[in-house]
Amino acid sequence: MSNDAVSAVINVDIEGPQISKHVYGHFAEHLGRCIYGGFYVGEDSDIPNEGGIRLDVVEALKALDIPNLRWPGGCFADEYHWMDGIGPKEDRAVMINTHWGGVEENNHFGTHEFMALCELLGTEPYISGNVGSGTVREMSEWVEYLTRDGDSPMVRLRKQNGREEPWKVKFWGLGNETWGCGGNMTAEQYALDARKYATYCRDYGDNKLYRIAAGAADFNYEWTKVLMEQLGHIGCQRVERKLYSAISVHYYTIAGTWDKKGDAKEFSTDEYYTTMLKANRTDELLTGHSNVMDLYDPTKEIGIVMDEWGTWWDVEPGTNPGFLYQQNTMRDALVASLHFDIFHKHADRVVMANIAQTVNVLQAMILTDPDSGALVLTPTYHVFQMNKGHQDAASLRVDAPKGIPTREVDGKELPLVSVSASRKDGRLLVSLSNLDAEAAQDVEIDLRGGGLGAYEALILTADTLQSHNTPDALEAVAPRAHEGVKLEGSKLRVHLPAHSFVTVSGDLA
Ligand code: AHR
Repeated sequence: MSNDAVSAVINVDIEGPQISKHVYGHFAEHLGRCIYGGFYVGEDSDIPNEGGIRLDVVEALKALDIPNLRWPGGCFADEYHWMDGIGPKEDRAVMINTHWGGVEENNHFGTHEFMALCELLGTEPYISGNVGSGTVREMSEWVEYLTRDGDSPMVRLRKQNGREEPWKVKFWGLGNETWGCGGNMTAEQYALDARKYATYCRDYGDNKLYRIAAGAADFNYEWTKVLMEQLGHIGCQRVERKLYSAISVHYYTIAGTWDKKGDAKEFSTDEYYTTMLKANRTDELLTGHSNVMDLYDPTKEIGIVMDEWGTWWDVEPGTNPGFLYQQNTMRDALVASLHFDIFHKHADRVVMANIAQTVNVLQAMILTDPDSGALVLTPTYHVFQMNKGHQDAASLRVDAPKGIPTREVDGKELPLVSVSASRKDGRLLVSLSNLDAEAAQDVEIDLRGGGLGAYEALILTADTLQSHNTPDALEAVAPRAHEGVKLEGSKLRVHLPAHSFVTVSGDLA
């Protein structure tokens, strides 16, 4: 069964805003087996590692060109005291990770280990500072410890701990979810605090911080409004207007309620469509926050950082409820591909996004087996891989003048096809998702303003939406060459099987 073909138009010579590579960013929290067992196994592990960092995880993530990694939380960030995580490991303070399972945190993975991980990955660190239970001084000294050169108390301490040169750190988060786990503040209270913390997070030498204020949950536009108001009084030169350069927002996709979010692998077709409808609301959410910001910042100098997004299901049976370990199916892959189309569409305002979380937690790229240590790449991983050519590419508008087929889901219309495109270095990349659970879909794209030469097409799909990868079936969901693409003159005809994600990339003539 197949719907009528969708007609689309892409003007390949009309470049839109650049898609920041940082929307392909990641997030690693001290939560469950993300850091310990995921990224970090310790130097005595049988698993090949460098300084305790798993090398197979590093290799897999390097293949994605991950642009940044957010750490140490999440909720954990607002009870993390960075000085507990430096110096000889045997002397580091032990704490209780009260948010996530009440387990002991021995602080063996701290600032030096995180920065070493970023160096191995070739990625930029994004550090989330503690506003909830930390002090202005503590945060200020962390910046000094990391980024200052020359001589000062924190520089001496860093050198004492084995690091001569300062690191480069650009992305700096001023707290996390300060409306909730990060301090239960009102927007007004946090907005004043954010100004203060931002002031004392200094730029040392040529290290320029990009400060990110802790933003709203979901559709709380009022929070964004209050933060924008605090950013400065338009026209008043006496107030620093760029205390922070971006505001974050968090939005998770769940099929049910927070009490019963739904099973990661066993779900009905109805639950699948509800999931896609919820994921698609990211477009509405970014439009809403961006509209509020436009009132204060029409030239879009302040960015949106969606530093937590992705699916959140009930934990896998038999696992610690505080560890947020979940499987990852073809449904998760389509949630990811849809999010990227939405981020590309909002490239003028969205400067960064971080999927939650990279290894063993929520919508992960990588799952590791706690017993055998086996590493599994999830369907979501493959979407990041197939889409990596969009990083820092110029977005291209995709028009569908005759419309896109929709389905009514929970009283709303869900578009069943999603497409985005970009160009970089003379190459075109088109990403297409068919969200229809059962029907195939053909898309005919009229490429105007330039021809396409040699191209490659890849497809990610599986027999069922519930298909997923395990140590015994590593490639149940993995990209394969796609034969269903034809180029006839300027027309690119793409066949999309039910629940599939396809990319077409090639040289622009
Ligand atoms: O990603 C898991 C948690 O979700 C984070 O710690 C928190 O910021 C959010 O509520």
